[in-house]
Amino acid sequence: MARPVVLVTRKLPPAVEARATRDYDARLNPDDRIYTADALLAAAAGADAMLICTSEKITADLVSRLPASIKAISTFSVGYEHIDVAACRARGIVVANTPGAMTEATANIAMLLMLGAARRGYEAQQMVRRGEWTGWTSTMLLGVDFSGKRLGIFGMGRIGQAVAQRARGFGLTIHYHNRRRLPAGEEQGAVFHASLDSLLAVSDILSINAPSSPETRHILNTAAIARLPDGAIVVNTARGDMIEDATLIAALTTGKLRAAGLDVFAGEPNLNPAYLALPNTYLLPHLGSATIETRDRMGFMALDNIDAVLAGRPAPYPL
Ligand code: DGY
Repeated sequence: MARPVVLVTRKLPPAVEARATRDYDARLNPDDRIYTADALLAAAAGADAMLICTSEKITADLVSRLPASIKAISTFSVGYEHIDVAACRARGIVVANTPGAMTEATANIAMLLMLGAARRGYEAQQMVRRGEWTGWTSTMLLGVDFSGKRLGIFGMGRIGQAVAQRARGFGLTIHYHNRRRLPAGEEQGAVFHASLDSLLAVSDILSINAPSSPETRHILNTAAIARLPDGAIVVNTARGDMIEDATLIAALTTGKLRAAGLDVFAGEPNLNPAYLALPNTYLLPHLGSATIETRDRMGFMALDNIDAVLAGRPAPYPL
């Protein structure tokens, strides 16, 4: 009997591809080329399901042109701003993601960014690697302590809470703004702010951990940055489009903000080049979930979704 066809749109970790090819007639992408919409539609012809990444923009137009055979679209990500979920639902296509898979890995990267920004990690690396380190001095590359400072977390979901857990160990006091206040038992002393403005005013360090949506696009704009304490640090592991780049760059240039640690950028991988010229940025290439264990877990969860839908069961991680 013919096996179901699953289109895997990007090259995935070997263990994930091995499982996909074991269980399905898997259409892999060994060259990891990014499909245009037309190429994606051609590759999806006759497929039963698609395992996609954030690089595939599943717009309403694309959904309207998908083959009728597609029953499920499972994304190898927690973020799903690249998918028009309503359009998929309207066509009876189940959409699912991989929530929770990257919580720990992403929270760890948020701490790396915080430390890299607060302790001048980029300048320090440059000095050592360029052979410009001429010896210890008492005033060389001074950063700032965490202890006694306030960390403002915008978006207190799984990742925000994991950041809070780690940051407490560094002596930071936790403040947060979220659509809903956490139950008292889960706040663990974190101070809830009913508005983002109120959170910004107390954020010596601001960590962005909210999902990208039309409401959060450019939420860190001129007015928001003006509310941050002078010398604040901004860290983003969520999505680049939540920051107004020109405004953040200006604030890092004038010294209104001390530093920024960024793992995500608008228009990735073509980030605003002005970030590269700033010594007080600590930049990573979207590494939040980039550990062997996490990427395997994401792939397995994405396949779990497809397995369930193609077997006539509800997806375990539906959107
Ligand atoms: C996610 O899961 O949304 C990540 O950003 C993709 O690595």
